[in-house]
Order: sequence, then C-alpha cells, then structure tokens
Amino acid sequence: MKLVWKVSLIILMIIVIILGIFIYKNYEVVQLYEKAKAKADKDNKKLLVLGSPTSASGALLQYFTKIYGCGDVCVDMNCCKNCERTYCEKAEDVLHKFESNGYVIFESGLLEVVDEDKLDYIVSEMYRIAGNKENIFASHHIQKHKWYFKHVYGFFYKFIGEGNIDRFVETYPPNNYYTFS
Ligand SMILES: C[S@@+](CC[C@H](N)C(=O)[O-])C[C@H]1O[C@@H](n2cnc3c(N)ncnc32)[C@H](O)[C@@H]1O
Repeated sequence: MKLVWKVSLIILMIIVIILGIFIYKNYEVVQLYEKAKAKADKDNKKLLVLGSPTSASGALLQYFTKIYGCGDVCVDMNCCKNCERTYCEKAEDVLHKFESNGYVIFESGLLEVVDEDKLDYIVSEMYRIAGNKENIFASHHIQKHKWYFKHVYGFFYKFIGEGNIDRFVETYPPNNYYTFS
C-alpha cells in the first residue's frame, strides 16, 4: 500500500475514533437532559436550559446524532440557535427574571467559562430558581479531561468566542453542591 494511502487511512481512523468518543459523551448528556425534562414534567415546572445545545461540539454533533434540547427557555450569550425561546444574553444579566422555585434547570458547560466575579451570583441564582439542588441537572465532562481542555480545546473555545475555561467544576448537582477548582 502506498504511503499516502496508509497516512490517509490512519487520519480517517483517528477522526472516526474522536467522533465516536464525542457521540458517546453526547449520549450521556442527552440522557441527563431527558432526566431533567422528566423531573420538570413530573413536578409541573418549566425547564430552563443554561448553555446552548448548538454551540461548540453540539453544532457539529447535531448532524450525526441527537443533541440535548432547548427546554422551555434557553439562555446563552451567543443565543441557543434553533430554540424557540432563547435569551441571547449573559446568564448574570437575565437570571433575576426567573421566579424562585419555578424551574428545573439543565446546565451544560456554562460554569467553567463565566466571569470569575459573576460565578457566585450565578450559582446562588440557580439555587434560588431551582429551589434545591435536586432540581438542577448539570453536565461537566470537561473536568474528566483537564489536560486536554486546558491545553487544546480551551483555545478552540476562546477562538470561537465561547469564553475562557477559567476553572473546572469538580462536583455538581443533582448529587452534590457545586464546587470548583
Ligand atoms: C464551553 S461552551 C459549552 C457549550 C455547550 N453548552 C456544551 O455543554 O457543550 C460555553 C457556552 O457558554 C456560553 N457562555 C459563556 N459565558 C456565558 C455567560 N456569562 N452567560 C451565558 N452564556 C455564556 C457560550 O456562548 C457557550 O455557548
């Protein structure tokens, strides 16, 4: 086999493996979203999504597989594209509009990147809106791959204007309270 074919085959295999990992990780996120939605339906609450389903990897993954949904309302400073009800604003500027104890929250990949001086406020607003941590369903697979996100993917987020990865979310609801490193 010619060298060029061998190299092409190796590159193709690497792409397929990376895509496979992304699709598997995405499947876990979608499962969590479904749990949040079921909890909202059961408790007769609305579902608030923080962090667009169609930003970063979601923008690509939607062509290959199902991605998480928009909830009843979705907040992202770059908009939740394709979502019917979206606030294209920073979370810290809109969360005060949501009633206390009125929503189940699904948060994905947002708290790694919000401004440091807004983090505590955003978290306290999330607890207020959700009523308790069991009404928050957070997805943070980033912290399981710290080196990769710090040195590779983090630059990509910054480049496409989705924020800096300033911290890792070590623990998170519904099983734990939020802690950061
Ligand atoms: C790391 S990406 C995560 C994308 C996707 N939600 C996921 O879980 O893969 C961070 C997302 O948060 C949004 N974002 C960053 N800072 C924000 C803020 N202060 N308020 C609202 N959205 C913000 C970015 O536009 C981007 O969509």
